[in-house]
Amino acid sequence: MVEETIKLAYGEYSDLIKDKRIAAVQALSGTGACRLFADFQKRFSPNSHIYIPVPTWSNHHNIWRDANVPQRTFHYYHPDTKDLDFASLMDDVKFSQNAPKGSFFLLHACAHNPTGVDPTEEQWKEMSYQFKVKGHFAFFDMAYQWFASGDPEKDVKSIGIFLEDGHLIGCS
Ligand SMILES: Cc1ncc(COP(=O)(O)O)c(C=O)c1O
Repeated sequence: MVEETIKLAYGEYSDLIKDKRIAAVQALSGTGACRLFADFQKRFSPNSHIYIPVPTWSNHHNIWRDANVPQRTFHYYHPDTKDLDFASLMDDVKFSQNAPKGSFFLLHACAHNPTGVDPTEEQWKEMSYQFKVKGHFAFFDMAYQWFASGDPEKDVKSIGIFLEDGHLIGCS
């Protein structure tokens, strides 16, 4: 089952699977998968923070709190435009007083909960580029592959863009 799951998430990039470059483990639902990653982060990067979008699924805060990972936030949604606040998001990614080099960011791969607002492909590319520049680590919570566009392959475009740019990522 784990193998089928990684094919669904990384199908297009099956070389990564063939070359055994993906470590995967079954978790108890999406919540448990996020919690496993939070513990992983704490163990292997004990002094790091997790940057969480504003707003986000409320349990993200509980999960990383339980794993003793300190939290910071980054801009995401603008209530006036009811859209992505991309300029502020990129400022948070770029400027070191907000996010020091090598920070961990929690990203919703698609169908952002609770806003439903996702970056465009172009915006994902800009984010991926800037994550490279800053050495940030992207953790994708993908609770809704298929829900955003109705096409499971389109919905993983965000992850594909980061992988094509050579990022190491986490994914739930
Ligand atoms: C963004 C996000 N991540 C994770 C989860 C957790 O998923 P599960 O219900 O499988 O634990 C949810 C569920 O609402 C969610 O919206």
